[in-house]
Amino acid sequence: MRWSMKGYIFDLDGVLVDTAKYHFLAWKRLASQLGIDFTIEDNEKLKGVSRKDSFEIILSLGGREIPDSEKEGLMDFKNKWYLDYVHSMDHSEILEGVEDYLKHLKEKGAIIILGSSSKNARLILEKVKLINYFDYIVDGNIINKAKPDPEVFLKGASLAGINPNECIVFEDAQAGIDAAKAAGMKVAGVVHSSELNGYDVEIRTFKSETPYLL
Ligand code: BG6
Ligand code: MG
Repeated sequence: MRWSMKGYIFDLDGVLVDTAKYHFLAWKRLASQLGIDFTIEDNEKLKGVSRKDSFEIILSLGGREIPDSEKEGLMDFKNKWYLDYVHSMDHSEILEGVEDYLKHLKEKGAIIILGSSSKNARLILEKVKLINYFDYIVDGNIINKAKPDPEVFLKGASLAGINPNECIVFEDAQAGIDAAKAAGMKVAGVVHSSELNGYDVEIRTFKSETPYLL
């Protein structure tokens, strides 16, 4: 099936770049300091989930309760450690086929939008040199409700002046797929290892599968 949409909305982490490994290392360091055992399998539960919600999941995995007043400071530590990895990222960390696809969309005149929960999205796009492909960026700094709420994607469509049903979202996380569906958009599930449900078309890499090309 070939869809020609007006708006192409991309999640960042796990779709354009693989930052989940860096989130994992930084969360693991914080979890260890709190005496919580945090595994790579647990990390799957954090994909697409906001920083605050991720921290709550880790605390509940460890059966720990922490006063709200201490949470911001601890999340700041995690983010600082995460940024140490982000600062060493470059162009080579873009996932296979992504840049060619973005180029293709640009040439066809499509509107390209970022829809990410991350507050570090702009920095990461700059580091890997993808930022210039994006017409609009909606990230964790400008949304009030995290995925699976549809706000991030609806805001993207609204900034671009297009209807939700004219957009397709590329997502690797269940929370993001649910958010895109709730927004009334088509969804391409970018499937790595974890099980995902509810997408309209599946892609494994942007290089090998192109049913979604304009
Ligand atoms: C999402 C990631 O893109 O961003 C989540 O999939 C992460 O794992 C979330 O928790 C928030 O990221 P940040 O960079 O604001 O801590
Ligand atoms: Mg993702």
